[in-house]
Amino acid sequence: GAKQAQVLLDTHESMPRTVALVLWGSDNIKSDGVPIAQALALIGAKPRFDSFGRLAGADLVSLEELGRPRIDVIMTLSGIFRDLLPLQTKLLAEASLKAAQADEPAGMNFIRAHALTYAKEMNVDIETAALRVFSNAEGAYGSNVNQLVDSSAFEEEDELADAYEARKSFAYGVTGKATRNPELLQKALKDVDLAYQNLESAELGITTVDHYFDTLGGISRAVKRAKGKDVAIYISDQTRGAGKIRTLADQVALETRSRSLNPKFYEALLSHGSEGVRQLEAQVTNTLGWSATTGQVKPWVYQRLSETFVLDDNMRQRMAELNPTAGLRMANRLLEAHERDYWQPDEETLDALRRGADELEDQCEGITIAAE
Ligand code: BEZ
Ligand code: MG
Repeated sequence: GAKQAQVLLDTHESMPRTVALVLWGSDNIKSDGVPIAQALALIGAKPRFDSFGRLAGADLVSLEELGRPRIDVIMTLSGIFRDLLPLQTKLLAEASLKAAQADEPAGMNFIRAHALTYAKEMNVDIETAALRVFSNAEGAYGSNVNQLVDSSAFEEEDELADAYEARKSFAYGVTGKATRNPELLQKALKDVDLAYQNLESAELGITTVDHYFDTLGGISRAVKRAKGKDVAIYISDQTRGAGKIRTLADQVALETRSRSLNPKFYEALLSHGSEGVRQLEAQVTNTLGWSATTGQVKPWVYQRLSETFVLDDNMRQRMAELNPTAGLRMANRLLEAHERDYWQPDEETLDALRRGADELEDQCEGITIAAE
């Protein structure tokens, strides 16, 4: 984890003062806590074990040993992390608190520097101003950003930031208890210089399921709104154990080429029939989710997806036979991406896409009439 945190720092153009890190439960369990170790390394802390070898908390490593400033880490936990890893939730809160309380120069300890500022501006104690572990309210999961995207139920993208902040503004302290603190989250978001999440499995990519843009996308949009500008977003690819850092734009491009547009991949999916078309459609929807939350999807992605699936007569026909509902959803999603200005197809492409959607819709109606 420490090595991977260093790769992140080496990749980013300058020394970040604040990093937003999304933590999932499954990733930490499968990797024996690698993302947790990244957070501790960025802060300049290490786990503490009791005399029985049980995890008991976190201690700071000295600035001499660290050799660089302590970086402020805004950790947003999935609800699953919070449920499965309560000791680790407290440990991360303890690391932040101890860093905020350390008698160290502001230039070498960004957590303390920020906590002192927040305490003054909000008129709260240092324990409150040092809270950096955010998640849902107890018993709640997810940011709802995925649902808003799936049902096209947002007008402005900042509504996604609203949803994210409403759901994820519960700060977990050293006791493991949560208190709602949207004002503190807002202050912390404003100071974020980069956001990232680990990708643990080659089986599921960030465009395969809608949870990645729900978490990393959600916080990225909230940061953008708080700061009034974009920040760098990275994926730390753990799938080959090396901790390779990729920009979000590059990760989406990589998955588009290697999965969505790769005949070996999509033919294998289509061999499963209806469910295969549904998964192809999900990749398109999840891609739109990244546009909505980060604006980092290149226009060629939508152009090539359109050409490969909806504009290709043979492929459109196959989708219509296997699963016209999902085929129609895909065509409409590509049109939605255009309507939201995530890509600007030429008139010819747009007309063909609309005709393809009409054809798929006829197919769906045919099924409904037959069923009736
Ligand atoms: C988790 O393990 O924390 C997680 C898994 C799937 C979706 C979201 C979170
Ligand atoms: Mg969750």
